[in-house]
Amino acid sequence: MRISVFGTGYVGTVVAVALAETGNDILCIDPDKNRLNMLKKGILPFYEPGLSEHLERNIREGRLAFTDSAEDGVRNGKVLFIAVGTPQGKDGSSDLCALEEVVRSIAKYANDEKVVVIKSTVPVGTGSRVKRMLKELRPDIQFSVVSNPEFMKEGTALMDFIKPARVVIGTRDEHAKRIMEELYEPFMRVSKRTFFCDNETAEMIKYASNAFLATKISFINEIANICENVGADVNCVRLAVGADPRIGPQFLFPGVGFGGSCLPKDLISLISQAKAVGYEPGLLDSVRSINEKQWTHLVKKIKEHFKGKLVGLKAALWGLSFKPETDDVRESPSLKIASALVENKVKVSVFDPAAIENARKILGDTVNYGKSMYEVLEGADMLIVVTEWLEFRHPDFERIKSLMKRSLIFDGRNIYDKEELKNKGFTYYFYGGSVSGEDHGD
Ligand SMILES: NC(=O)c1ccc[n+]([C@@H]2O[C@H](COP(=O)([O-])OP(=O)(O)OC[C@H]3O[C@@H](n4cnc5c(N)ncnc54)[C@H](O)[C@@H]3O)[C@@H](O)[C@H]2O)c1
Repeated sequence: MRISVFGTGYVGTVVAVALAETGNDILCIDPDKNRLNMLKKGILPFYEPGLSEHLERNIREGRLAFTDSAEDGVRNGKVLFIAVGTPQGKDGSSDLCALEEVVRSIAKYANDEKVVVIKSTVPVGTGSRVKRMLKELRPDIQFSVVSNPEFMKEGTALMDFIKPARVVIGTRDEHAKRIMEELYEPFMRVSKRTFFCDNETAEMIKYASNAFLATKISFINEIANICENVGADVNCVRLAVGADPRIGPQFLFPGVGFGGSCLPKDLISLISQAKAVGYEPGLLDSVRSINEKQWTHLVKKIKEHFKGKLVGLKAALWGLSFKPETDDVRESPSLKIASALVENKVKVSVFDPAAIENARKILGDTVNYGKSMYEVLEGADMLIVVTEWLEFRHPDFERIKSLMKRSLIFDGRNIYDKEELKNKGFTYYFYGGSVSGEDHGD
């Protein structure tokens, strides 16, 4: 099938590569020329494990091409995927400027019947609004609009698309439904996991899914904060609670809270959508406010440990991306923590396996960037671990101790064993408690 994909970000590129893998002819459209130049050469403009070999192969075999011409994109595809960004606007609502621009291009250049598939996460009602827009602008052409939200996770995006837990297809149009079924059929060989519904329901499924995941994180964070004050071990609590099959262990990790380009903005958008129709979403408001405070607890612990005397201290910070296996730093708690320490006149040296260049665009020269996880430790008064990359999980603690000025670790993801660290002499702070070692902040 001839398919065009508007937007070559994390989602658009993965969708394009996965659909090319199954033999479709894909043309990707993006106004960002730098990005296109890299993609044309088979180079990914972002970090996503396992994607580049598939990108290269599909380009080489002629199933995947790139252009900045919206006209070519619209004319090329029978199916037009829209995977542009829908960032948070100033008032919390979603900014749909990029999506509307694509819709106007579709109306301008369409020469025959089109199936328009909205992959971007958009407020409930957007699919129907796009359908009305297209009908108004081009009454001479038949458009079907499908709301097909994406659930991939950065870090495992291609596999998530190829082996999806579920596919949601929201449309009132039988013709579009059949085309979407055909497109997804190769990914449904083992079992059918497709949910058909109307556009509004599909749009809400995406927001409800992300709001639930955010709720699980804020829930365990609230429990961790209570554990800390009543003397219970949150690391044991979360395992035992998660062992109940009605609850499940996923997304029950206490720490600095959630970031990224999806959970925070989708939660805020859903809150804004609810309020716009006169509903006060008390639960979602709490999920949000717990998360917004969560990273500040770590800074508070640092201030308390040093009795407020932070000026001139040296901090080593591991992890800049909002989660491991991505270079995405959007809404990353790590950058907020780094900035707060810099404001308090702490000298911060950071290391991340993939996200340094993206972090540099935001933090600039306010921090030092290290070439390795051990380099940033030299002479440091504290180590702060914010992103749980695999390489940070079992470090050489003896080496850490020999490099640092003090044996002091603040763990923003609860990845270390408190007993082990205590035995090695570290003073160790985690979410839900602390163990006292050699360093007392004096
Ligand atoms: N990143 C994720 O893990 C993820 C997962 C599920 C859903 N989503 C949703 O998918 C959408 C895209 O997310 P993303 O992370 O890929 O965004 P992104 O910011 O990485 O990429 C967006 C791309 O769209 C391009 N673009 C902007 N205007 C355009 C136009 N007029 N025509 C063509 N391209 C244009 C930009 O240049 C950019 O390359 C968002 O709505 C997001 O909420 C993201």
